[in-house]
Formats: sequence, structure tokens, C-alpha cells
Amino acid sequence: MTSAPTTTTAGPLDVERLIQDLTLEEKASLTSGLDFWHTQPVERLGIGSVMVTDGPHGLRKQDTSADHLGLAESVPATCFPTAAALGSTWDVDLLRRVGSALGRETRANDVAVLLGPGINIKRSPLCGRNFEYFSEDPVVSGDLGAALIEGIQSEGVGTSLKHFAVNNQETDRMRVSADVDERTLREIYLTGFERAVTRAKPWTVMCAYNKVNGTYASEHPWLLTEVLRDEWGYDGVVVSDWGAVADRVPSLAAGLDLEMPNSGNIGDAQVVEAVRSGAMDEAVLDQAVRRLLTLLSRALPAAAEPSSYDAGAHHALAREAAAAGSVLLKNDPVDGTPLLPLRAADAAGVLVVGEFARTPRYQGAGSSQVNPTRLDDALTAIGEVAGADVSFAPGFTIEGVTEGSDEQLRDEAVEAARTATTVVVFLGLPAADESEGYDRDHLDLPDSQVALLQALAEVNPRLVVVLANGSAVALSGWEHLTPAVLETWLGGQAGGGAVADLLFGAQSPSGRLTETIPVSLRDTPAYGSFPGELGHVRYGEGVLVGYRYYDAKGMTVSYPFGHGLTYTSFEHTDVTATVSGEGDDVTVTVRARITNTGTVRGAEVVQVYVGDPESVVLRPERELKGFVKVSLEPGESREVEVVLDARDLSYWHPTLRAWTLEGGEFLVSVGASSRDLRATVSVDVTAPPLAAPLSDDSTFGEWLDHPVGGELLRAELARPETPGADDQGNLEIDETMAKMLLDMPVRVIANFAGMLFDRDGLARLLDQAQERSVRA
Ligand code: BGC
Repeated sequence: MTSAPTTTTAGPLDVERLIQDLTLEEKASLTSGLDFWHTQPVERLGIGSVMVTDGPHGLRKQDTSADHLGLAESVPATCFPTAAALGSTWDVDLLRRVGSALGRETRANDVAVLLGPGINIKRSPLCGRNFEYFSEDPVVSGDLGAALIEGIQSEGVGTSLKHFAVNNQETDRMRVSADVDERTLREIYLTGFERAVTRAKPWTVMCAYNKVNGTYASEHPWLLTEVLRDEWGYDGVVVSDWGAVADRVPSLAAGLDLEMPNSGNIGDAQVVEAVRSGAMDEAVLDQAVRRLLTLLSRALPAAAEPSSYDAGAHHALAREAAAAGSVLLKNDPVDGTPLLPLRAADAAGVLVVGEFARTPRYQGAGSSQVNPTRLDDALTAIGEVAGADVSFAPGFTIEGVTEGSDEQLRDEAVEAARTATTVVVFLGLPAADESEGYDRDHLDLPDSQVALLQALAEVNPRLVVVLANGSAVALSGWEHLTPAVLETWLGGQAGGGAVADLLFGAQSPSGRLTETIPVSLRDTPAYGSFPGELGHVRYGEGVLVGYRYYDAKGMTVSYPFGHGLTYTSFEHTDVTATVSGEGDDVTVTVRARITNTGTVRGAEVVQVYVGDPESVVLRPERELKGFVKVSLEPGESREVEVVLDARDLSYWHPTLRAWTLEGGEFLVSVGASSRDLRATVSVDVTAPPLAAPLSDDSTFGEWLDHPVGGELLRAELARPETPGADDQGNLEIDETMAKMLLDMPVRVIANFAGMLFDRDGLARLLDQAQERSVRA
């Protein structure tokens, strides 16, 4: 497919010169859109306009009409698998290739910035937009997001990393305040963005609709400037989510450069007025204009060259990605052999059931909705891959698609199943269940589908369930009915072909879960606090999100984070973890030898988890810190390596407000899922002792544990007049009392007459602490 190039500007931009030449009104106009999808030009100075458009797993370029909900038609483009499926590939190289294909399509359609990827954390499986996000874990989200950005931007077009930040639900998304403590923000909700921003440098970052701790993300100086720019060194453009700006002046001041879409130029007038009245320094506006002109300059070279893409090759890549992102959850033996893969020789006896096999669910609704260049259905693809016509029964109704009643379709399917060699049942969530704009309120498949499965299981034990859904569904009520379950997520336009490849063993499944499948909704970490109420959602589970929560509670889950079966097997041996350096310079090199011990080619996702058994803060039992996907022939063996640094071992200290490494023992595990750890190695890491500032409100225990405070406190206790301590400063009181003391602020101790030290003693202690600079 080709399209003629358009020139977005008259020539290379001399950014600093233009800032001098632009009028105040022109500068203000540049900081909002021209219309729904274009930036504002200033023709007088040769500043052109560029188009930005959705994203994230395909191009949604609307030609004539515009909306942000995917309602109106867009140009045909490859619908790659959604992020739920791309995430499950755990394959950074593949994501770079998909990214580069997306970049080529973006470029061929004269679009400068593709609005994606979205890397918000899947806090609850109920979030209606989870299909657009990668994972419940920030390392997977950040690394896969970075890979996609690198791929897209390698083609000379930009990305928009979204939605920054803490946009983890659709309910009340345009107003709700996500109330989250800083440690949780840093460790869970910002880490993925930090990884993607610092590694891949997206041209733009899109701020979220919601508030973060009471302030709109679009007006959040801490988020948009302190963290994003000052700490992470981001120098690109911050664009609003569509309609996310409440008040332009505070937004601009907070670090938001571009309001999209155009909102009637009222904001521009407010910006002009704020500069004229002195309420806002013109330098703030100049800085935003500088970033916007730099963005236009970046877009110039690609826009100047004609470009095309090979739709057939992209369809094939979409098929490869959909296969790599499907997760084989279960594959129990029937008559002694795992049910999958099916043999092509048996294909003629296979019965395919389920309307989704003929009418695929392959993407979600909303702004990410793509108009695909082609659409594979699994039923046709199975026939092609297996080389035989398979029989089909719709099994249940889809509104507006299938004729008849659920009962009638179920009975027909059961009749056909009696004589089938194997029954492959396509189940999933109805399209209306998951979309941008609203959340689910349950995790269940429709009753009609479960009833169908029950009825089929009664007549034929050789049942394979193929699932299509954008976020986890509960399997606990029905999975005992079937020996095999293949989760395909929303696999994009070539998903049907990918399923056929997997079912008949043309490919070995290699996807792994990036989100835990819980037993029930009640088990989920945010149950009770999702989606919040009265304009607030409190992230009370803190850092215990996803597997961190299930592991902390020792809970049974249906399928753990990281899980996924293949048609082969892998051995992890020679696992070592070697420490070098210390403190901020420490590295831990983790190595493992992975061997394909089965009979077919396959890929293992080697996952490296770290746990810190002792810390002043509660740390998750284990956290993913790195991963490698390795593809091996039968019998082949390869050594993989993941290098961890100080940050990978650190936590965010809430009072020090810094990433903090506590020395001591760490447990490094290598595994095939968060609950299938093949080896755990203990390493000892050296780091300076923790030295949080002390005050009169710090406890006796905190003073004692402090490297300097402990020494000062012991000296004070060692004074001859101190009751209850010997001349070395050791306590001479009973154990219960000593235990109670540890928790008492030193000011309280000084107030109790006759207890260890009085107010004079406290004053001496605080003075000395001041002198040694350890007092807050
Ligand atoms: C979505 C964004 C999208 C934008 C433009 C918004 O409603 O939240 O993800 O990029 O619309 O369509």
C-alpha cells in the first residue's frame, strides 16, 4: 500500500529563531490542536501541521470524520494483536518488529505520531481497557513498551506513551482521583513509564484523564515536570489525552505542552492573557513551543519521503505475533497423551463449536479500534492448516450475528459432538463486555457458553477450549470439564490463523501469562476498592498488586503470573548469581542453562525474581526483575544471562524519598512462572547502613538501628546516672519492657520521669545528632 508524501513544513526548522519570530498569539496557538487529529500550523513562518492518531496495535486514521471512541470508519490498517496478547509474548525482539511494521504503516499514511503504546498496570482484571495494556507487572510493561516504541520510532515516526499516569480503570476515568502513596506510585505505577521513557525516548507522552492524589494528571507539576523531566531526563512533548485539559494555564505551567483536540481556542486566549498579566512567565510558553517545534523537526525527514508497506507481510507478522502471545494454560493427557497438538490426520473428525470461530473477537472497542486490512477466521484457517474440511456448529448466539436460540444451537452442537474425534470450542467475552469507557463488574463467561461446555463434556471428553477475551476470565467454575485450554486474548486480524497453527502443532505455544488468573473476583487485590466511590479510588493494597498480592497471602490462583505450557519441556540448570561491586554500583549477574528436553522446537521464557527477606519496609515475597525468551531446537541448550543493578534490589523509601538499597541477603530465583521457581540462590549484598534522619519523634528502636544515632544513644545510656542501663549502654530491664521501649518515640521516654533519660538527656542527644547531621 502506498500514499503520496505531504510536506508538513516548508523546510528544516530553526527552532530558536522561530521562537523569536512568533507572536505571543501564534505561540499560544501552537500549544493546542488545529482540529481532532492535527497540530496547529503557522503558515506565515513555514510551520506546518502534522497528524497524530491512534494507536496502539494498529493505525486508526480517520479521513473524514473524527471521534476518540472508534465509532467512525478509518483507513484499512493491519490490526496487530492487542497489548494483552503482545504482552504475553514476553518477546522484546518480536515487539520491535511489530513496532517497526506499525511505524511503516503510520508513515505510509502521512501520520507523524502513533498514539501508543499504553502501559498502565492491570490493577484489577475488571478494567475495561486491560486489553490495551501489557501486564500487572511494571518490568514487563516497561520493557515491552520500550521495545514497541523503539520499533515504531525506528521508522521516523513518533509514539505517545500513555496514559501517564495511574489510569487503571475506566469508571469515572475523566475525574476520579487515584489516591496512592508515593512508594506504591514509584515501585508499581511509575516504574514501567520510567523504563520506557529512559530506554526508548518516546517523542510524546500522553497524560491521563484522571487525577493523581487530588490533582489532574494534566495539571500535575510533580508528575509532568519533577518526575518525568527532571528525574528521568525526558525532553519530548507531553500531550493531553483527548479532552483531558481542565484549565490550560495550570496545565502549561505543570509541563503539558499540547492540548488535544482543539477545544475552541479558548485555552489559547487564556494563555495569552496569563502571559500579558504576568501570571505566567513567557519562558514557560517558549519552552512548550520549543518542544513542539522540535517534534515537528523530528517528523520532517520521514514526511519528506514517499513510503509504502507490504500488507501481506504485515498480516503474516500479525499471525506470528498472535501465535507467540497465546498462552496454553492447560493440556492434560487424554488416554495417556496430552490432547494438544491435534494431528492433521485426525482433522476430518474434528468438530469446531462456537460462533467466535467464524466471527472472531480479535480487538476491543474504543479509540484503539482498527479497520483491518484482512480478517482471518479460525474455522477457515483450521481447514487450511489441517488440509481438511472440519464440521462446525455455532453453539451459542452472538447478538446480531447468529440466528436461533442458545438452547437450539447448544442441542445441535451436542448432537454433532457425539461422533466427533475432538471438539474444539471457541468461547470468550461478548464484545460489549469490554471496552474503553467502562469496566466489567464480573469475571465470568456468559452462562450460555458455560452451559454449552457442560453439555459437550457429557458427550465427548476430548474437548479443547479456545478463549478470546481481553482480560482475565474466571476458569474455576468450568475448567474441570476440559483437558485443554488455550488463551488467545484478542489476537488481532490474523489471530484465526495463529490458533490453527497452534492447535495442529505448526507452532508450539510460547506465550506466558503477564497477569494472574485468579480463582474468583473476590480474591483480587483491589476487590472492594475498585473502582472507588465518590470521585476517589484508594489504592489500599499498596505495592501488593497482581502476583505480589497472591504470593504475600499464599493464595491459590487458577494460573500464576508467568505460566504457560508448550509442546516441549525445558530444564533450567547451572543457575548462578554473582555479585560484584557494592552500594549503588552493585551488579548481580544471573545465569542459567536452559535445555529443550522435549521433541519439538519451542521457546522458554526465563524469569528472574528477587526477594529481600529482611527490610524495614514490607517487600513483596518476590518481584520480577528481568526475563529472557529463548527459542530452542529439541536437545539444544543455551546459557542465558540477566544482569541486575542496585535499582533492581532497591525499594522506594517513603521518608528518605529515595531509592534505597539495604545491604544483606537477597534471594534470586530463576523460574518458568512466579510459582514455578526452578532454583533459588542466596546472595549477600553490601550497602551503606540505612540512615533515615532522626528526630525526637523517632523511636528508641530507630535510634538504636541508626549507624550514628545508635552510637549516640548508647553513649547517653552509658552515663552513670542513667537508670536501667549499664556503663556500656546496655539495657538492664526485663525483656517485655525492652520490647515496648523499641516502639516509643524518644520524646515520650523523656517525658516519663525516671525512665532512661530526661528532657536534658534528650536535648543532649538531639544536639549531638544535629552536630553529626543525622537529625531531621
Ligand atoms: C483515549 C486515548 C486515545 C485518544 C484519542 C482517548 O479517549 O483515552 O487513548 O489516544 O482518545 O483517540
